[in-house]
Amino acid sequence: MPNKEMLLIPGPTPVLDEIYEALSSETYAHTDPRVVKTTLESLEMTRKMFNTNGEVFIVAGSGTLAMEMALVNTVAPGEKILVLSQGFFGDRFIKLAESFGIQVDVIKSEWGQRVCAAMVESKLEKGGYKAVTVTHVDTSTGVEADLATLVPLVKKYNALFILDGVCATAAIAEDMGRDYGNNAKIDVVLTGSQKAIGVPPGLAILAMGPEALEARAAIPRVSAYYADINNWLPIMKDPTKYFATPAVNMLYAYRKAMEIVHAEGLDNRYARHLRLGQATRGALSTYGLKPLASEDVAAPTLSCILYPEGVNDLAFRKALGAKGMVIAGALAALAGKAFRIGHMGNVQLADLRKAIGLVGEALQEQGLTVDIPRALAKFDSFHV
Ligand SMILES: Cc1ncc(COP(=O)(O)O)c(C=O)c1O
Repeated sequence: MPNKEMLLIPGPTPVLDEIYEALSSETYAHTDPRVVKTTLESLEMTRKMFNTNGEVFIVAGSGTLAMEMALVNTVAPGEKILVLSQGFFGDRFIKLAESFGIQVDVIKSEWGQRVCAAMVESKLEKGGYKAVTVTHVDTSTGVEADLATLVPLVKKYNALFILDGVCATAAIAEDMGRDYGNNAKIDVVLTGSQKAIGVPPGLAILAMGPEALEARAAIPRVSAYYADINNWLPIMKDPTKYFATPAVNMLYAYRKAMEIVHAEGLDNRYARHLRLGQATRGALSTYGLKPLASEDVAAPTLSCILYPEGVNDLAFRKALGAKGMVIAGALAALAGKAFRIGHMGNVQLADLRKAIGLVGEALQEQGLTVDIPRALAKFDSFHV
């Protein structure tokens, strides 16, 4: 099934035909050896992507379920976490923690900026945090968290490092085996299927390193059932067993997507995303459009772009929709003042290039003078 629209929102992202084909394969019994094989191979390729010797879980649900699994399996009610929030999805951890009776402190950055590491350290010094949550790329702002600074800082104070990879996994390295100094490692990565992995929405993915698994073992009873990894662990080890019916067809699609990720090569994929982000922002800047995040903190996966004076958000996005291209509006206080464009996963280069031209046309329709050939030349200069 060819993609009818250029889906350039920050997820779900365009789905390749071979992934659609896998998705529409015959549905076998969830305990059928062919499904068991698909599950085990999917787990193995995910383990390889995160470079972890811990445990990996793939369950039916969205990224928010993966956030919930990460939290309830590592932090008991009454314990305290520190949320580092760089936007809307960072804030989601606050609501989750509150829902489960977990105490929560927050450090928020200005939207478009990173949290201040010195502020993080002064909070951590006071102690008592079981875990720190970090959103790798906050989809509301297009800011990428600085793992090289944050991982060693958090681990210095013996808190678990929980990383929300929903808008980063498979596009930016999330290497749980990497030593960031003094054996500081990422403890948990949680993610969803629908962004840079390139599968339709519907799978929650969680990787737990050794310290995170120890934390689960120390919690007598988590306040969840479906999200309790102890119910899933036997299934992930032996998918012939049953806990809750797995999303069989989504697993077919996910395995295919993982094959595509590894065939491209992780490093190549990460480098491609860097170039895609730079090329998209570079080209759009020739129209006078300014990204919310400065280039040194801007994410490879999506960009939040501020409208110049005089551009109407709804009319602009409607005009693009009429040309077959879908982008997203901005969230919260930025609604109406910016748009968000995804450049991740299996998005085709030709589509992204075409999108640059269409954005130019939509701006012209709003009365702006823009030079489309110049924008395309800028895009091409990044040799994506
Ligand atoms: C960074 C981030 N975290 C979490 C979520 C929540 O994922 P979902 O909408 O799949 O529940 C999203 C959704 O866009 C996200 O971008």
